Amino acid sequence: MTAVATAGAVAGNAPGNLLTDRLEAIARGFKHVAFASSLGAEDMVLTDAILRAGLPIEIFTLETGRLHPETLAVVARIKARYGHDVTLVRPDAAAVDAYVREHGANAFYESVELRKACCRIRKVEPLARALAGKDAWVTGLRRAQSTTRTDLALREDDAVHGIAKFNPLADWSEPEVWAYIREHDVPYNVLHDRGYPSIGCEPCTRAIKPGEDIRAGRWWWENQDSKECGLHVAPDGTLQRAGAHRP
Ligand code: ADX
Ligand code: SF4
Repeated sequence: MTAVATAGAVAGNAPGNLLTDRLEAIARGFKHVAFASSLGAEDMVLTDAILRAGLPIEIFTLETGRLHPETLAVVARIKARYGHDVTLVRPDAAAVDAYVREHGANAFYESVELRKACCRIRKVEPLARALAGKDAWVTGLRRAQSTTRTDLALREDDAVHGIAKFNPLADWSEPEVWAYIREHDVPYNVLHDRGYPSIGCEPCTRAIKPGEDIRAGRWWWENQDSKECGLHVAPDGTLQRAGAHRP
């Protein structure tokens, strides 16, 4: 669904108030909280709610080195709008160099293993660094995004990082996300208006056609079940749903 098509689709947008309550409860319950922002639509809703409420939650983006310029431009727009600096967390340069030397810069198209290896270097290891010393983290995951996310809880125990993980938009629909963005005039990635509902790294994301699944443009050459980058999976490779706290 495009941004324009869904504008104003949800009258009143009561979920916005509930969202602030959820975020305030997280900030009250945990001392060191970080929010992982991909700078996509869901994450802009969270960014707006966190910054307007002045909550002590650090906002960081995994700057993989392969993001679209349009995505990176959102960082400056957040600064202009809210006066807030998003922390950019970069991959280990030596690990990136070794991968590129050994396999080639775009080797992720060759196999799921090489794709996951790239995600490990550019996303998963930097995420672990970003979460070091934190008690809890927040994501913009939603149940409706994917068949792999239908069981998503509002709160999970993150066994990989040993901290609590919150998905405050777990029960939100895509129209609710866009209604919030319109209602609060939240800045968003211009790629959303060009057929990109879900945005990751540039070489691994493409625009979708009308009627296609919202994640159809992510790692489009792989099959549906492998389409997770490792940010949200357990050490055994399964999705981190064990120990989930239901709402
Ligand atoms: S992914 O696992 O397929 O890449 P997706 O793009 O759907 O994830 O985003 C889900 C959530 O993961 C986002 O709402 C955000 O919390 C986190 N996330 C994804 N990419 C990044 C990134 N580059 N930096 C920080 N957080 C990210
Ligand atoms: Fe590498 Fe693509 Fe994963 Fe980005 S999404 S880290 S470019 S494989």
